[in-house]
Amino acid sequence: MPSLFNALVLLGLAGISNALAAPTVTVRELTIPIDCNLDVAHTYEMCSTLTLPRSVSETPSRERVPSSMTNGERLARHLPLKPPTRRSSGRRAVPSSSTATPMKRGYIQVLSVDANGNPAGVLGYVSKNTYIKAQYVLQPSLDGALLVGQSGDHDLLTLNSDTPSPAFLGLAQGREDTSSVLAKGSFNYLSLASTEQTPPNATPQAVGSSYNTVYGGSRTAESAVFTLDSTTNALVVRWINPNGSAAPTIPFTQGSAIYFSGDPDAFRQKFSAPVQSIAFKFVPA
Ligand SMILES: *[C@@H]1O[C@H](CO)[C@@H](O)[C@H](O)[C@H]1NC(C)=O
Repeated sequence: MPSLFNALVLLGLAGISNALAAPTVTVRELTIPIDCNLDVAHTYEMCSTLTLPRSVSETPSRERVPSSMTNGERLARHLPLKPPTRRSSGRRAVPSSSTATPMKRGYIQVLSVDANGNPAGVLGYVSKNTYIKAQYVLQPSLDGALLVGQSGDHDLLTLNSDTPSPAFLGLAQGREDTSSVLAKGSFNYLSLASTEQTPPNATPQAVGSSYNTVYGGSRTAESAVFTLDSTTNALVVRWINPNGSAAPTIPFTQGSAIYFSGDPDAFRQKFSAPVQSIAFKFVPA
């Protein structure tokens, strides 16, 4: 639960506890229904409305990037890397590990998933405009969608994000999580965020993320969680649990927020707002 609301709850209960001379109050166990009509509701990502700024043209223009710019400079500006050249050079482009083919770039379409687990319709796209620079959200249109580039087999670089650093798209541990474990029966959840790179199959790492930058703390994250099916363009997301096993990583939305949990129903019960199961599809740019 967002900190402001927790703070308010704490203050309220602290007042009561002082009056009754009760020693402590545990807010951790409380389940408070979220009312998106409250004044403080803007602090809830699940209440955020889709009033995101629309861009005029987000198609990255190769023509406008001076060809003399080095890949290092391009990376610093979050521009796509130069295609590999035959000219031998001691320098290798980083962090792409596949220099044989140009970076595959595209948008992430969000599909609703029905009760049987089948894609049911297009809800929109992952937006380049994050919720308070902390985490990625859903927007209805392709205009202003997040452009990503494949890096290696399981990483996606963000190419036009309003939160360009750290440079990788990844999953970040939620504020209320009791551990980094996703499992059936647990409300633990992950947000879609900008994260530092973590190796494929690595357990949750205490690396930097936009989520930690905004909310504080040193919660875990993983970047190497994406697997693109090159036939169907389905983009599957898979978190690795602390014991090294692949976790059930079920994506869903709550409002425009995008989350992942091993048990969306447990999440819904904990946070008292409807959730919509989703799936992702890579749309080549
Ligand atoms: C790893 O942890 C998950 C979640 O607690 C559990 O379901 C799974 O059985 C564990 N796997 C192994 C190999 O210990």
